[in-house]
Amino acid sequence: QQNHLVALFKTATVIPVLTIERIQDAVPLARALVAGGVRTLEVTLRTPVAIEAARAMMAEVPEAIVGIGTILNPADFTRVEKLGVAFGISPGLTPDLLKAATDSSLPFAPGIATASELMVALSYGFDVAKFFPAEQAGGIKGLRALGGPFPNVRFCPTGGVGEANAASWLAEPNVVAVGGSWLCPTAEIRAGNWAGITAICQRTLQALKP
Ligand code: 3PG
Repeated sequence: QQNHLVALFKTATVIPVLTIERIQDAVPLARALVAGGVRTLEVTLRTPVAIEAARAMMAEVPEAIVGIGTILNPADFTRVEKLGVAFGISPGLTPDLLKAATDSSLPFAPGIATASELMVALSYGFDVAKFFPAEQAGGIKGLRALGGPFPNVRFCPTGGVGEANAASWLAEPNVVAVGGSWLCPTAEIRAGNWAGITAICQRTLQALKP
């Protein structure tokens, strides 16, 4: 599972963190991201329509690889597991949540910001983690420092990542993908500016080309 997640994140490179307020935005948003070359999507459980939005995306946008983020507890995990999504992500971790994830076949990346949190994740067998909030929790220097004692852990930094710094994060050997909301700004979603979202994705991916 964890190897699968590394492969999935590496292919993704950038993962938009989606907050979907209106169900009718789900499909056009997924199409706009896919059109911009961004296929791996994290639908966060921050709005009442999140689960329904993920279902609609999976049904109608087959090119999208849909995962769920902001999984906060075992009850969330159980709801998500049944959906048949590709992966799950959380901003942090609790022993209960990690236990639920170890009992499941859903690939899961818990969130960590400190060495102790990472040690808890590792004790449950999770060696792919979301580094959150990445910029605020020490930035690239902080992640490099964690790489010392934990050379085999792979990270998806999220929080404060954007067009300006995505390439620097991705240049780190222990970073497999970066996540963030810059690819799908709430204002653009509210305005239905799908072409604008496609353009942000294209610009971001273009800038990451060697
Ligand atoms: C997350 O949940 O991963 C963050 O809220 C995304 O952070 P960003 O808005 O700084 O990209």
